[in-house]
Amino acid sequence: MSTPPISLDRLTKAFGSRRAVDEVSMTVPEGQVFGFLGPNGAGKSTTIRCLLGLYHPTSGTARVLGSDPATGDAAFRREVGYLPGELHLPDRLAGADVLARFGRIRGVHDTAYADALVDRFGADLSRPLGVLSKGNKQKVGLVLAFMARPRLLVLDEPTSGLDPLLQDEFSALLKETVADGRTVLLSSHDLDEVQRVADRVAIIRAGRVVVDDTIDSLRARVPHTMEVTFDHDVDTSCLADVPGVTVTSTTPRTVRLGWSGSVGPVLSAVAALRPVDVTARPADLDELFHGYYRDTEGEAA
Ligand SMILES: Nc1ncnc2c1ncn2[C@@H]1O[C@H](COP(=O)(O)OP(=O)(O)OP(=O)(O)O)[C@@H](O)[C@H]1O
Ligand SMILES: [Mg+2]
Repeated sequence: MSTPPISLDRLTKAFGSRRAVDEVSMTVPEGQVFGFLGPNGAGKSTTIRCLLGLYHPTSGTARVLGSDPATGDAAFRREVGYLPGELHLPDRLAGADVLARFGRIRGVHDTAYADALVDRFGADLSRPLGVLSKGNKQKVGLVLAFMARPRLLVLDEPTSGLDPLLQDEFSALLKETVADGRTVLLSSHDLDEVQRVADRVAIIRAGRVVVDDTIDSLRARVPHTMEVTFDHDVDTSCLADVPGVTVTSTTPRTVRLGWSGSVGPVLSAVAALRPVDVTARPADLDELFHGYYRDTEGEAA
């Protein structure tokens, strides 16, 4: 196995006596989109800044593309595309100037990919960045992060300010990026987006990782729902005996149930009652995610 692009071992960053990141250990596998979630102030951006070597950890270590970002060896950064949560770009320059400068620094000689990104996002390269709207500035930031085709993309709330069509375009770009064997760390408050694009998710709360799992295995744990309709009156009490099933509502000719785990036993039990219609909804991770966002009183600022 190759070394993972990012691994954190009990990474801690304190500001004064307050631990913004508290013994975070996690591994971002190669060739995947890794979703990084958590409420405001949970420690996402602080973790990310440690990864880029912008903050020095108080204790613990980070390895990024085989380097320790805290040691000052900045060579790994050439292979990282970073979009900060708060983008600071020179206001007086136009996007075209910033892209050209960045391209020179990164040694991007073939600009075809950057041009294609500019087209896809409809980035305005002609006006000074200082006069662009938040979303339009963000488009320039996205082009900057992706244009050198870095091995690792570290994106701190990349879709904040983007309109829905561009969010779809961005999701497609993420999928192409990982299909190419490259890796994305995506911090986001857009839970739908994360469900759609991420392979794995970590949730951080008050500086600590409270969930770190694949989307598939989280889905398998979260209840799916099914609604079954009959053309005759049915006693559905037997369904409650199927392992993993909870009957949430019932009338003589309909039943709604939730289940987690494998669908086979549920289908067999339902089929035996001779239904006329069945609709099933895939597991939605929103409820699970929201649960981790709630009840943060007294923990995060
Ligand atoms: N430079 C700093 N000095 C002091 N405290 C800081 C500094 N940077 C971050 N913090 C604190 O660290 C905690 C984590 O902040 P961080 O920006 O990492 O959160 P976040 O998860 O990115 O939140 P958001 O979703 O709002 O972007 C907060 O309590 C914040 O006030
Ligand atoms: Mg942040």
